[in-house]
Amino acid sequence: MKKTTLVIICWCLTVLTSVAGNVASYQVVPLPQNIQMTYGNPFILNGECRIAYPEGDILLARNAAFLIDYIKKATGIQLATMPFAENKGKKTLRKSTAPLITLSLNPKIEGKEAYRLTVTNKAISIEGSTPNGVFYGIQTLRKSLPLTKDAAHEASVELPAAVISDAPRFGYRGMHLDVSRHFFPVEVVKEYIDIMALHNMNVFHWHISDDQGWRIEIQRYPLLAKLGSQRNQTVVGRNMNIFDGIPYGGYFTKEQAKEIVAYAQERYITVMPEIDMPGHMLGALKSYPELGCTGGPYEVEGTWGVFDDILCAGNEKTFEFVEGVLDEIMEIFPSEIIHIGGDEAPRTRWKECPKCQQRIRELQLKGDGHFPAEAKLQGYFTKRVEKYLNDRGRRIIGWDEILEGDVDASAMIMSWRGIKGGLEASVKGHDVVMAPTSHCYFDYYQTDPESWQNTTLFKSFIPLKKAYNLDPCPDSLSEDAKRHILGAQANIWTEYIPYKSLLQYQMLPRAAALSEVQWMLPSQKNYEEFLRRERHMLDIYKLYGYTFCDEEFKVKKK
Ligand code: ACM
Ligand code: ZN
Repeated sequence: MKKTTLVIICWCLTVLTSVAGNVASYQVVPLPQNIQMTYGNPFILNGECRIAYPEGDILLARNAAFLIDYIKKATGIQLATMPFAENKGKKTLRKSTAPLITLSLNPKIEGKEAYRLTVTNKAISIEGSTPNGVFYGIQTLRKSLPLTKDAAHEASVELPAAVISDAPRFGYRGMHLDVSRHFFPVEVVKEYIDIMALHNMNVFHWHISDDQGWRIEIQRYPLLAKLGSQRNQTVVGRNMNIFDGIPYGGYFTKEQAKEIVAYAQERYITVMPEIDMPGHMLGALKSYPELGCTGGPYEVEGTWGVFDDILCAGNEKTFEFVEGVLDEIMEIFPSEIIHIGGDEAPRTRWKECPKCQQRIRELQLKGDGHFPAEAKLQGYFTKRVEKYLNDRGRRIIGWDEILEGDVDASAMIMSWRGIKGGLEASVKGHDVVMAPTSHCYFDYYQTDPESWQNTTLFKSFIPLKKAYNLDPCPDSLSEDAKRHILGAQANIWTEYIPYKSLLQYQMLPRAAALSEVQWMLPSQKNYEEFLRRERHMLDIYKLYGYTFCDEEFKVKKK
C-alpha cells in the first residue's frame, strides 16, 4: 500500500472515531419513557451556544446554572446564559444568532415532574410544567453527553435530532442515610444528594437519631448534642465484644442542617428527617434519663442491635420532650412528611413499668390475639404524635411496625420487612413507600459471598440484578390500592460503613438500578439493556470521583 493511501485511511479513521466519540446518546439511566429520533441534522453544541430562560425566573436561572456546570464538567465547553423577556406568552429573544438551549415552563405538559426535550439542528428546548420537570430534562441531557473534556479534538458535541417525552412512574423516589451509627460531615451529605439528583431522586430520608448517637442540635434540649451525640467507643467487627476504645461523636448544628435542606431543595430533593421513637432512643436517654421507664443511667451504645431501653409511654414528660424536639425539627425541615420511626421497639420495659401499665389501664388497651396491650400502647404513642404533627400541617410516616398499634389510615407506612406489610397497608388506605430488606438495603453485600471475607458488612446479599427487579406496585393490587403506593426507597444503615468511599461504593451502581425501579414503567425495564446503558454512568461516576462497585461490568472469566 502506498504511503499516502495509508495516511488518508488513518485520517479517515481518526475523523470517524472522533465524531462517533462526540455524539450524544439518549440511552441514559433511568431510560426516558419515550425517545423519538427525528429527521434532520443534529444540534452542534459548542462554545457559541447560549442557554436561554425567562428573564427574572430565579428557579429556571438556577437550572440554567446547573446545566452550564454539567456541560462544562462533561465536555469542557463553557456556555453563557441569555435570559429572554416573555411577551404575551411569546418569547422575545434578544438579537442573537447563537444556537440556543431554551429552558421554559409549559403548562400543557402533564405531570409535575414531566418534561419534553426537543433537539433540532437549530435549538434544544427543555420544557416542563414546573421547574422540577425542566430539571429532570436537564439531567437527561447531561447524562446523554459524551465525556469529551479531555479529548484532544475541538470542543463540540453532536446531539441527534429527537423529541423525548418523559415522566416518572412514582412521585416518591427516595434514598435514606443513617448518620447515627457513623457520622458523615456536611460535604459528604451534599455529595450524596448530588448522586441522588443524578439519578432523578426526590426524597432524602435522613436518619438523624439512634441508639449510637443523636445527631441534630435541638436548642431546647442542649444535652442531646452535648451528651447524646457522643459514645465512648465502638465495637469491632460484628459485635465481637472487642472495643476500639476510641470516643466517637458528631452532630449537625441547626444551621448546617438548614444548609443541607437548602442544598437539596435547589436540586428538587426534599429532606425528610427521621426521629426514631419510641425505640432507638439511647442518645436521648443518656441525655435525659428521666424519659426512660427505669430512670437509667443509660449509655450511648457502642454496639449494634436492638435495645430494651426506650422512651416511657406512661410519662407525660416524654410527650413534652417529643413535641419540643418536633417543634424544632419542623422549624429546620419544611418537609410535609416527618418520619417518626417506630421500628424495633421492644415492649420489655413497658411490661414492667408502673407508669406504662397505668396508662394501659387508663386507656383500657387490650391485646388483640396477635399483638399485646403494649403494642396498642405504641399505637397510642404514634397516634398522639401524629395528631401533634397533623395539627401543624405535617404528616407522619413510620416503619411498618406501627401497623401493630392500629394507627389511622392517615399515617404513611414505610414497608421494610418485605413488601407484604406495605401491600396490606395500601389495601387499608395507608399511603405506602416500599423499602424492603429483600431489594433495598444497600448496606448489604452486592458482590459474591466468596468476596465477603474482604470487608465486614451486614451479612446479607443484594446483587445489582436483585435491586433492579423490585416491583413496588405489583399488578395483582386493586387500582384503588395501587394509588396508595407512592414509591420506593433504598436504605443505607451505617453500622459497618464508617467512611465516604465505602458509603458511595454501597450506593453505586445500585442507586442506578433503583432509579429505574422508581422512574420507569415495568414493561419498559430490561436488565441487560440497563447494564449497557449504565456503562456510561460509570464513566460519569469516575468523572465526579465517586467510588462504585464495578463487579457486574467486569468481563467474567469462564
Ligand atoms: C429498620 O431497618 N430497622 C427499619
Ligand atoms: Zn414506662
